[in-house]
Amino acid sequence: MTAKITDLQQARPRDMLGRPLHDLRISVMDRCNFRCPYCMPRETFHEHYRFLRSSERLSFDEIVRITRLFVQLGVRKVRLTGGEPLLRANLAELVGDLTSIEGVEDVALTTNGVLLAQHAAELKANGLHRITVSLDSLDAAIFTQMSGGFAELERVLEGISAAVAAGLTPIKINTVVQRGINDHTVLDLVERFRGTGVIVRFIEYMDVGNRNHWSMDRVVPSRELLARIHARWPVHPVQGRYRGEVAERYAFDDGAGEIGFISSVTNPFCGDCTRARLSSEGVFYTCLFASTGVDLRGPLRSGASDEALLELIRSTWQQRTDRYSELRSSLRNNEYPLKKIEMYYIGG
Ligand code: GTP
Ligand code: 5AD
Ligand code: SF4
Ligand code: SF4
Repeated sequence: MTAKITDLQQARPRDMLGRPLHDLRISVMDRCNFRCPYCMPRETFHEHYRFLRSSERLSFDEIVRITRLFVQLGVRKVRLTGGEPLLRANLAELVGDLTSIEGVEDVALTTNGVLLAQHAAELKANGLHRITVSLDSLDAAIFTQMSGGFAELERVLEGISAAVAAGLTPIKINTVVQRGINDHTVLDLVERFRGTGVIVRFIEYMDVGNRNHWSMDRVVPSRELLARIHARWPVHPVQGRYRGEVAERYAFDDGAGEIGFISSVTNPFCGDCTRARLSSEGVFYTCLFASTGVDLRGPLRSGASDEALLELIRSTWQQRTDRYSELRSSLRNNEYPLKKIEMYYIGG
């Protein structure tokens, strides 16, 4: 009996703060067809920017092998991200492989939606469970500004409709809110999607990466948005679906569905953070704000055994102490290594 419990503890490592591994966020593509100023500002990500070569990105077989190992260590939820994941050729094949792994209970995709209309049905057919679309405003001019000059609002809305038609539910919309930029258009989004089953989630603008000129003045605290929405359409809090859920959920009193708030700045959720991240070139990060990660591609390509890779992942997780969002307010600039990973590279 004791041996069994020990085996189980071995199999499902906990980090230094007692947090197990539960989610794996896999970036399959470092490129993006948008240039959102808060993520891939044009001045840095210009036409000569050197993105990864395709041989530098993990192949589907490599991603599947690594995912299987993470599943052995406790992962049950997989999210595919980018850059823009739908820029990766034949992504639906990877979805098919991942959804067939025993132990994987949920496979989701976060996309900007531009290419979604043409892929939604195939993704569903290959087993994708659900989809999240980033959409910052329904105001065409603000949308274009926040995507870095791409006037593709209509295509994104078509993508969302295609996802609804394909049954990739529950469909979520991620809206990054920035004061003075799109905060005055928040109610339009609520109005548009209330009663459709699509869940809009407002994200506090975060200081990810080093290049987005983040400042606290641009952050709209979720409680402020909640008050504005509540004044128009009363809402009440709903219990989270599972421990460590990123969004705080609210339901409309009139039964028209739900909204969510992701408040990593004003109400950090590191205490329950069970998320591992894998970059498109195979680096394993234990925090969205990490400055270093552990390369898995090197050992993988030089013939490491599953046991050796498992040990590498397990020991990395066991040494994890990350809680950046909780520390943010008490850190002075010079107390945190300047170079954080970039959002486009790790997918949020
Ligand atoms: P669900 O499973 O649908 O709840 O998805 P999710 O909220 O885990 O994922 P999604 O990709 O939609 O992320 C929503 C927002 O939360 C994005 O802005 C992410 O960058 C942010 N986010 C996700 N995980 C973390 C995290 O561990 N830490 C912080 N600080 N932000 C996170
Ligand atoms: N702050 C908050 N959310 C961000 N995202 C990208 N950059 C930021 C940021 N600086 C969001 C994207 C996407 C999700 C994965 O992360 O809009 O919906
Ligand atoms: Fe692309 Fe998403 Fe980054 Fe915008 S936030 S540049 S859509 S990866
Ligand atoms: Fe997890 Fe890091 Fe986000 Fe905290 S800041 S919730 S530790 S990824």
